[in-house]
Amino acid sequence: MSSVDDTLASRHAASLPRYTSYPTANHFDGAIGPADYKSWLAEIGSDAALSLYVHIPFCEALCWYCACSTKATRRYEPVADYLEAVETELLSVSQLIPGWHRLTHLHWGGGSPDILSARDIRRLGVWLNNCFEVPPGIEFAVEVDPRLMTSEKADSLVEVGVNRISIGVQDFDPVVQKAIGREQSYEITSKAVDLFRDRDIRSVNVDLVYGLPHQTEHSLDHTIQQVFELSPDRIAVFGYAHLPHRVRNQKLIDASALPGPSQRYSMARRLATLIEQAGYKPLGLDHFARPNDSLATRSLRRNFQGYTTDRADVAIGLGASAIGRLPRGYVQNAVSASDYARRVQQTGLATVRGWALTPEDRLRASVIERLMCDFTFSSKGLTDRFGEAGLNILHEADAIIAEDIDGFVQRTDDGFCLTPRGRPFVRNFCARFDAHLNRLAASSKHSLSV
Ligand SMILES: C[S@@+](CC[C@H](N)C(=O)[O-])C[C@H]1O[C@@H](n2cnc3c(N)ncnc32)[C@H](O)[C@@H]1O
Ligand code: SF4
Repeated sequence: MSSVDDTLASRHAASLPRYTSYPTANHFDGAIGPADYKSWLAEIGSDAALSLYVHIPFCEALCWYCACSTKATRRYEPVADYLEAVETELLSVSQLIPGWHRLTHLHWGGGSPDILSARDIRRLGVWLNNCFEVPPGIEFAVEVDPRLMTSEKADSLVEVGVNRISIGVQDFDPVVQKAIGREQSYEITSKAVDLFRDRDIRSVNVDLVYGLPHQTEHSLDHTIQQVFELSPDRIAVFGYAHLPHRVRNQKLIDASALPGPSQRYSMARRLATLIEQAGYKPLGLDHFARPNDSLATRSLRRNFQGYTTDRADVAIGLGASAIGRLPRGYVQNAVSASDYARRVQQTGLATVRGWALTPEDRLRASVIERLMCDFTFSSKGLTDRFGEAGLNILHEADAIIAEDIDGFVQRTDDGFCLTPRGRPFVRNFCARFDAHLNRLAASSKHSLSV
């Protein structure tokens, strides 16, 4: 990396949101509860497209780096009890939405959804089919911890309609794996991939993380070559979010072994170069896909799972901590599995916070989503959709361009864009359009933008 890049990375690294929604989830408040969710569900039109996310907040052991909403369990009983609560919530939600709806996308995430027994995977599949129309072939993705996979579980996942899997790898280097409390050999990972490929699941995503302790560009070179041997269709490369004051298990990570902003930046650049050289197309902040993959050929959207092609009007979130996006706003369920189950047993729903979208939120959400997905937004698109208010955003964009001394942003014939040089810093520019961001508080809440 040149010293110019080095200086840029250090100067622009800031603690900022990953913008999987706008406003970001830390702005949701307790003013929104089950009564709002009920009335918002009742307003869903009969022709609205629906997608559905189910959160399974359990893993066999907690990886030290993990910031996901999950909990370790060695016993299956808490998982089985939790699934009963999910069934209750599913029934309530489907009864509150008027009419019979067809799903366009399904996603089971976690935690580790493959902690579910084969029997429970089938049961969850049946419940979903009883409550919604699940057309064969719709995109149905599941996050998988390869260390938990068995052929029986793979059979059941395929049987319920899963056609995409996302596998956590992070890094194959044994030194890094030891330092992050996740030991997972290449052989275990490739065996899990084969279990799905043998059952005709062609779409495989691999998650990697850079910025982990003891990682170097060199160790990542080796990891990425092993990832290419798995021949994934998509690769997600996340920058490690180290927030030990919020994520207790991260206290086990030796902070003195963490790379600094300029090393993180060079790791991200190096990985991007190697992945692109291997024929993948870069997408948004941190995703890569084969040129014929739907993520590369369709228009990109941003949601709580990252990048997606899901264009549904309504995204239902089921389970502890799950977030739903409705035309009126966002709703989030209780975070702990026990609190979630208790609330569902009492009222059928577990909403504890949310956000009612204002017209200005919708405008800024659209700008930030386009920047996160395409690094650009069109002024015509904005004014067509938001009228005069769209012009104010263009004034803000002009002010940002006027202050830019690094060649990161520019005007286009029809709007505003980040230059290739500015793209790694996209979160910094989204933050400039974020009217809710409290810049002082942000440093304790978010991960490094580079
Ligand atoms: C729900 S987990 C993955 C599914 C599965 N449980 C597994 O571990 O294989 C989703 C992904 O989030 C990413 N992730 C978790 N904690 C992170 C952190 N602190 N910073 C960046 N990425 C993180 C990891 O890449 C992980 O694979
Ligand atoms: S990375 Fe996956 S397996 Fe590890 S704690 Fe997080 S959700 Fe669980």
